[in-house]
Amino acid sequence: MKEEKPKYGWYVKNLIIGFNIIGLLGITAFIYGFLINGLLKIILLISGLAIILVFLWPGIGMVMMHLLLLGRIYLVSKMKGLDEIENPQILDVGCGTGRTAIRIAKELKNGGHLYGIDIYSKLAIQGNALDTVQNNAHIEKVENKTTFQYGSATDIPFEDEKFDIVNASSVLHEVHDSNGQENAMQEIYRVLKPGGCFYLSEWNRTSWQCVAIGGLCCFAFKKKDHWKTLLEKYNFKEITYETTAGFGIFTAKK
Ligand SMILES: C[S@@+](CC[C@H](N)C(=O)[O-])C[C@H]1O[C@@H](n2cnc3c(N)ncnc32)[C@H](O)[C@@H]1O
Repeated sequence: MKEEKPKYGWYVKNLIIGFNIIGLLGITAFIYGFLINGLLKIILLISGLAIILVFLWPGIGMVMMHLLLLGRIYLVSKMKGLDEIENPQILDVGCGTGRTAIRIAKELKNGGHLYGIDIYSKLAIQGNALDTVQNNAHIEKVENKTTFQYGSATDIPFEDEKFDIVNASSVLHEVHDSNGQENAMQEIYRVLKPGGCFYLSEWNRTSWQCVAIGGLCCFAFKKKDHWKTLLEKYNFKEITYETTAGFGIFTAKK
């Protein structure tokens, strides 16, 4: 019998397809511009180049970002202190289809539990749904140490000081409602135990690697200092930052 595979889905699949199709039209216009003469040549060369810069570059960049995030090795290696916490209680905010959450749950060798919440936005990940993440946890054999449910970062459905670790990977830049990111910081602080650790991962718009990979798509992300300022405002301490290819991980303690 064929083994069932988890379905983690592509990030922003429709945007990737749309941007790359328009980008290919840009290449076609640019090449055609080379082959002809007159005013149309100038128009096609300039518009082709503009379309390549605005659509093809970020289109390819989004594919690269997706591939760079697949392993989650950077994050889980940072959480290697996991086995030092007795019965760790972990919350993954914006768990989506469970790509990061399930990877972390697999590291829980000596007890502990991972909870995941999400609003399951369809724009962010293909097939994003509560059913999908629960089914993925079943296939990956971590269903007895995970609980997934609907819940927003801005109104976390758990009591105060429940978690040793809260993780939010590539999520908070998507929280756009008024004061959303501020509310999310406040909520994450509230549900962490004193001394608990918050892992916040986001692309850093001001890093040259992020610009090189994503072109204009970098503007979807915030500057590193934006997150640091928010963390400080909400009383997080011992803030550290590490970056891999433009993708940054903050760790911060309550
Ligand atoms: C780029 S995906 C990242 C998913 C997951 N963290 C991962 O590493 O694969 C962003 C996720 O954030 C979720 N999201 C957006 N706004 C949210 C909010 N206010 N509360 C909880 N989740 C949210 C989206 O539904 C989506 O699943």
